[in-house]
Amino acid sequence: MNPRQSPASPATRAEMAARFVGRDITSMRDFTTDELLFVLDLSEEFEGSDEPRLKGKILANLFFEPSTRTRLSFHSAMARLGGQVIGFADANVSSVSKGESLSDTIRMVENYCDAIVIRHKFEGAARLAAESTHLPVINAGDGANQHPTQTLLDLYTIRRIHGAFEGLRVAFLGDLRYSRTVHSLIESLARFNTELVCVSPPQLRLPGDILDDLFERGVRVREEFNPTILPQDVDILYTTRIQKERFPDPVDYEKVKNAYQLDRKALSIYPSRVTVMHPLPRVNEISPDLDDYEGAAYFQQAKNGVTVRKTLLSLVLGVV
Ligand code: CP
Repeated sequence: MNPRQSPASPATRAEMAARFVGRDITSMRDFTTDELLFVLDLSEEFEGSDEPRLKGKILANLFFEPSTRTRLSFHSAMARLGGQVIGFADANVSSVSKGESLSDTIRMVENYCDAIVIRHKFEGAARLAAESTHLPVINAGDGANQHPTQTLLDLYTIRRIHGAFEGLRVAFLGDLRYSRTVHSLIESLARFNTELVCVSPPQLRLPGDILDDLFERGVRVREEFNPTILPQDVDILYTTRIQKERFPDPVDYEKVKNAYQLDRKALSIYPSRVTVMHPLPRVNEISPDLDDYEGAAYFQQAKNGVTVRKTLLSLVLGVV
């Protein structure tokens, strides 16, 4: 079955939960649409619940790249549900710095935990980790490829604000070439009859394979190449940092590093509230004067990360 399609007859809650036990979460492409919606529905239930259902379970948080939100919200989710966390926040304090391979690292770590979360600078690293262990592996970001748990929390946030995805008009603004959060989220929003506007400097446009996929699926998508001119006809502005660390040449980064900045004045073109999202961290893409704008959703996104990660950890560890 095409993973983007739902099965003909709806599965029960127990059947849906069973599909996740021991499962790797490496890409949004691995989710059927009904599985994706199931995670969001279950997250609504988990929002206010901190039962110690993960007591006795250990999560390994392996962060080979910097993180604040993803690492700490996974840690918080585990702790809130009674579980424990081991791991590292810097590859230099692991034996990788002595030359140990990623595969060997994972084979060692599987002896110490029940599930593994990994962030790595190389695309495909999470998949390689998943192939190196029988434990569930969750991708916390692999290079410019995917960031599936960010997408789930983004979708959760969007649904809480807008009620549904169908018919939404979403602009993606900034570094669409290297932003893994954009790549993951676009793939998912494209399933729901949304209209997508991709606004970036020409050198940071969405990768061709993702655009081709959208066109083949008949998704309504258009590109614009001046990020200082905001599209008028949108419900959501999903903004991104220019991903300095992914540029092969720092000179190229210098040319686009200040490609745009959103502030109150820029948003004055909209007659009514527009939702402003950002996976964070921001550098200078969003002025602090927007922080109390009623459509600003970026701090809520970060907060929702704990809820969604509580749900995912409970699912893959089989304790829903
Ligand atoms: N959104 C996100 O991935 O943030 P961190 O890099 O701080 O984890």
